[in-house]
Parts: sequence; structure tokens; C-alpha cells
Amino acid sequence: MAGPGQTGRSGRPTLAVVGATGAVGTVMLQILSQRADIWGEIRLVASPRSAGRKLAVRGEETEVVALTEEAFDGVDVALFDVPDEVAERWAPLAAAKGAVVVDNSGTFRMDPDVPLVVPEVNPHAVRMRPRGIIANPSCTTLSMIVALGALHAEFGLRELVASSYQAVSGAGREGVATLRQQLSLVAGTELGTSPGDVRRAVGDHTGPFPEPVALNVVPWAGTAREDGWSSEELKVRDETRKILGLPVLPVAVTCVRVPVITTHSLTVHARFEGEVTVDKAREILATAPGVVLFDNPAAGEFPTPADVVGTDPTWVGRVRRALDDPTALELFVCGDNLRKGSALNTAQIAELVAAELS
Ligand SMILES: NC(=O)c1ccc[n+]([C@@H]2O[C@H](COP(=O)([O-])OP(=O)(O)OC[C@H]3O[C@@H](n4cnc5c(N)ncnc54)[C@H](OP(=O)(O)O)[C@@H]3O)[C@@H](O)[C@H]2O)c1
Repeated sequence: MAGPGQTGRSGRPTLAVVGATGAVGTVMLQILSQRADIWGEIRLVASPRSAGRKLAVRGEETEVVALTEEAFDGVDVALFDVPDEVAERWAPLAAAKGAVVVDNSGTFRMDPDVPLVVPEVNPHAVRMRPRGIIANPSCTTLSMIVALGALHAEFGLRELVASSYQAVSGAGREGVATLRQQLSLVAGTELGTSPGDVRRAVGDHTGPFPEPVALNVVPWAGTAREDGWSSEELKVRDETRKILGLPVLPVAVTCVRVPVITTHSLTVHARFEGEVTVDKAREILATAPGVVLFDNPAAGEFPTPADVVGTDPTWVGRVRRALDDPTALELFVCGDNLRKGSALNTAQIAELVAAELS
């Protein structure tokens, strides 16, 4: 599986970041600058619009190159942080040129020949990649799966019911720009007290969202699917099943967009094989890699996006046993959708691949 640049000038693998200028790509460059420096060249790639721009990575100004086949010359690992249609066209081309692709888009996640990997949960899957492509789960799934996977390993998951509270940066730079603009349009007003007034103030500035998101919550993310489900909701079901290896797990999810810039939250009702105790659940969550248990409501301690943004772990609070079911737990989970929810998980997968190549 090694690519042609495996023994590049520095003797370390060459990495390409495709989509380096986007919401995920920007955080990716920060993460690559903060984690152990295992890479030789780091090549930054984006659309021709961005070619020639300079971005900082590992403290060095690096010029962005346009996405072309030549951009993958000598690349060992290529991280794709681009829209679905761009990944669909270019990820197989990069793989054909010898790079191992780690893709953040939704294009390959459910392909049976593409592993869907969360290093804390199913790291072994990274090696089974007949297409040379590894998929990164969606940010909503990733925001809860590390905690859920740890509980599943101990208790055996039997059913999942979840609701998401999703940040606008889950819709990329355009999502962030839209909320900022809407906030400026509604700031300092009495809006939100009579029907339609927020909608009138926001006008056409709804960006990628079907309704105003400032001073509002919107029970919709993604595109319409059969029987009233959204694509985002089906992603969470399908991805959870694939990552945990539970192909018929009953999963019901409602995805909601909230006026938060970054960090997704979820309420989780998880039912297990047998009786569970809160003490055991807390012990598991307190020791699981990548999870922080922050759960003392009497002292005002539970995770919120305002505290969690910019951090790496999955934060869990409000751990309770279900009132009417001794086999089920209730949790509130927060995760930075641009870090563990996308760029960090991708970087961790790339590090697993680099360890194979070395
Ligand atoms: N935001 C999240 O929380 C999140 C989480 C998980 C996964 N994802 C997925 O990650 C991917 C990137 O999302 P994002 O939120 O970072 O999007 P974004 O902010 O809109 O950035 C898109 C990136 O793709 C590049 N791009 C667009 N069209 C291109 C083309 N034709 N050729 C080459 N590059 C092109 C852009 O380059 P220019 O700047 O040159 O236009 C930019 O670098 C998407 O598939 C998204 O679904 C996002």
C-alpha cells in the first residue's frame, strides 16, 4: 500500500491536505501543527481559486496549489476535506496514483470496500482498504461515538435514540458566515417575540439553512430522504451500525441545528443487553481514551459547547439510568465538530496509516 513518495527527501511520508482553505481544512492545519510532527512535506491543495495563497502549517508559510493529478505526485497519504462531488471525482484518482486517501466527505462512508474508522473504537479496520480509501465518519456520529463505543464494549448496545444540537460550522464556512450575518441583523432588537419577525429581519440571508438559525432552532439538517427522514439522520444510523459492527441496531435520530458556531451536542438514550448501573457507566467513561466525564450538575458541571469548543475529547455529562428501564442510560454529549468531529479523527487515521508505512 505504500505510495511512491514513501521515502521522500526527509525519509518521512508526504502528506497532502486537499481542501486546506475550508472550515475543516483550516482546523486540520492547526491540528497538524500541534500533533507530533511525523510528516515530511505537507502539500496544501484547494480549488484553482485559492492557488498561490499562503497558509501557515507547522509554523511555515506554505503555498496552496490547485487540485490537479500532478498535485498527488509523490504523496503517501492524502486527506480530503472537500465537497462530496469533488471527493467522488478526485479521491479515486489520488488512490490510483498510490496515495492512501482519508476522506471526510459523505461519498464513500457506506461503501463496503471502504472502512469507516474511529481510532478509539475500530482502529483495526484501517488496514482493510481495497480501494485505497478510508472514510471519516460524519461530525454528528463522531461527536458521540467514542463515548458510545466505550459503553458498548462493556454493556453491549441494543438500541439508540438520539437528538442532535448541531453547530452551524457543520455546514462549512458558509454556515458560519450565515449565522454571523443573521446575528448582526437581529442584534439589539425585540425580535423573537412575535411570529415571523425573525424571518422578516433575516430575509433572504438563510444561507445553507431552511430557516433562520439566529434566535431559533431548526429541526432539519441535510437533504430530504424517504418517509420524512433527513440525510443527516440516516447517516448517524448507518455509520453507527457500521463502526460498531451492529448491522441491524435499531437507531432513531432527530437532527436539529442550533445557533452555536462550533461543537455539536447530542442527547443519547442507549439501551443495553442487561441491567446497567450509573456507577459502572461513570467508571467506563472516566477511563475511556478520548472521553472526559464532566458530570456534577449540583455543582453546575456538565458540558456545553461554549466550554468544549477547541478541545479534542468527547465530553459526557448528565449520566443517568433511564427512569423506566434498568437496561438503558441517558447521556448528554458534546464534541467539537471541527476537531474530533472531522479534522482530528482524520489526522489520527492518517497517523495509523503512516505507522504502517514507516
Ligand atoms: N464542517 C464540518 O463540521 C464537517 C465535519 C465533517 C465532515 N465535513 C465534510 O468535510 C468536507 C469539507 O467541509 P468544510 O465544512 O470544510 O467545507 P468548506 O468550508 O466549504 O470548504 C471546502 C473546501 O473544498 C475546496 N473545494 C471546493 N471545491 C473545490 C474544487 N472544485 N476543487 C478543489 N477544491 C475545492 C475549497 O477550496 P476553495 O477555498 O479554493 O474554494 C475548500 O478548501 C465536506 O465534504 C464536508 O461534508 C465537514
